[in-house]
Amino acid sequence: MTVIDSTLRLFNKLFSDPRLHIEFLRQPEKFLQQRNMPELCPYIPELLDRPVQQSACRLDTAILCLTEQCNLNCIHCSVNASPGGKTHLDPGVLRRCIEELCSLEVRVVKFTGGEPLTYPGIENFLLQALHAGIFVEVETSGTLLTEKFLTTFDGFQDSMRFAVGFDSLNADTYERFRNTPGAFEMVSQGFSLLKNHGFQVKIMTVLSKLNRHEIPDIIDWTLSTFGVHGFHRLLPVLSSFGRGKKSSPESGLDAIGLHDFLHNEYFPLFRSRGKEQKEPQLNIGLPLALVPFDLPIYPVCGCGTQKIGVTPKGNVGLCHLIEGHEFAISGRADEPLGQHWLKGKPFETMRGLERHGMKGICSDCRFFRACAGGCRVHAEAVYGDASYADPTCQSFMEAGLFPEESLMTSISEEFYS
Ligand SMILES: C[S@@+](CC[C@H](N)C(=O)[O-])C[C@H]1O[C@@H](n2cnc3c(N)ncnc32)[C@H](O)[C@@H]1O
Ligand code: SF4
Ligand code: SF4
Repeated sequence: MTVIDSTLRLFNKLFSDPRLHIEFLRQPEKFLQQRNMPELCPYIPELLDRPVQQSACRLDTAILCLTEQCNLNCIHCSVNASPGGKTHLDPGVLRRCIEELCSLEVRVVKFTGGEPLTYPGIENFLLQALHAGIFVEVETSGTLLTEKFLTTFDGFQDSMRFAVGFDSLNADTYERFRNTPGAFEMVSQGFSLLKNHGFQVKIMTVLSKLNRHEIPDIIDWTLSTFGVHGFHRLLPVLSSFGRGKKSSPESGLDAIGLHDFLHNEYFPLFRSRGKEQKEPQLNIGLPLALVPFDLPIYPVCGCGTQKIGVTPKGNVGLCHLIEGHEFAISGRADEPLGQHWLKGKPFETMRGLERHGMKGICSDCRFFRACAGGCRVHAEAVYGDASYADPTCQSFMEAGLFPEESLMTSISEEFYS
């Protein structure tokens, strides 16, 4: 075996850690020098395009979307949930899915909806997963939390987290988002209960024209209210799913607005808060290419390589937002999830995606191997074509705002000029 062969083996091992992979994609030369592998530098253009090995595809996270029912009726709801929502995942299928996810040694299960707290017997399913040693995240509006409900989970504070959708500190603005009078009072009570019980809380804020000036305050409020148990995730893109189709063009930020917001407000704030925090407590759902290279933000969706989703209708696929997107659906949830994961068509397709097979800016992006083209389902929702680039990156490119240093051609020029 040559030196190059053995170094490549080590290199492949590094690839199984997405953070290291991203560090390499950002600064390949520095990465190789620091790891004493300078002999690989001439191969950098080839290494940047190297497929992630199948063995690195490990099922880490499952997203179980339990219901289309919700006590609220948000203007932007990606799953079209409402108080009249009738579709629920069959409880027998749900129990079997959790059992199987446990035997597949999945690390995290996210329970979402609709509003998961409207799902009959939700406590029992959360406990089933917790007792199996799985980390549980409950995605909730927080408006239906009660003392009795949270007491059921006392003792599991280290193994579960509540991800609460919360878009404004102002009652009127919050209720415009949530489209339900009285919802602000309800979520405020939910926050007091979560704080009193010492649960981990991830505040999820969807960025829109309604709240763009409030984001620093929401972040400060999250950190001061929940301290080390608090975490803030910004969802900078109002996706065109469900009712988002209508509200995204009305209230979402366009590429210029989002670029200004990120560079003038969010990234500087991230830099300053990051220095103060022992563990990172901020995060943003933005495609990798749009994140400045100095920031320790590693947004990888894991679509096809790390996660699986189940919908309230009982379909299984790349995530839980797959209804109406046939290419992303592998089959039914009463069939073994392990089989879907190993052999399902959408999973195979995602693992075999090639940069040159993509349309739009992804075909020229240095982060393609870690990002796999962002959200394929959102691309199909916006462009009617699942092989098109992620809409956020594409809109930045069309506005002339896609960062030059994220282009593959910028690397090729460096090495071939
Ligand atoms: C669909 S909700 C389900 C869980 C719960 N009912 C809630 O509101 O948090 C999950 C998260 O997605 C966010 N969300 C809903 N519609 C969205 C859209 N069109 N684009 C981006 N995020 C969206 C919500 O604000 C919430 O933070
Ligand atoms: S975003 Fe959440 S709270 Fe709002 S309608 Fe949808 S499921 Fe309900
Ligand atoms: S251009 Fe495509 S591959 Fe690159 S970061 Fe954006 S979505 Fe991902």
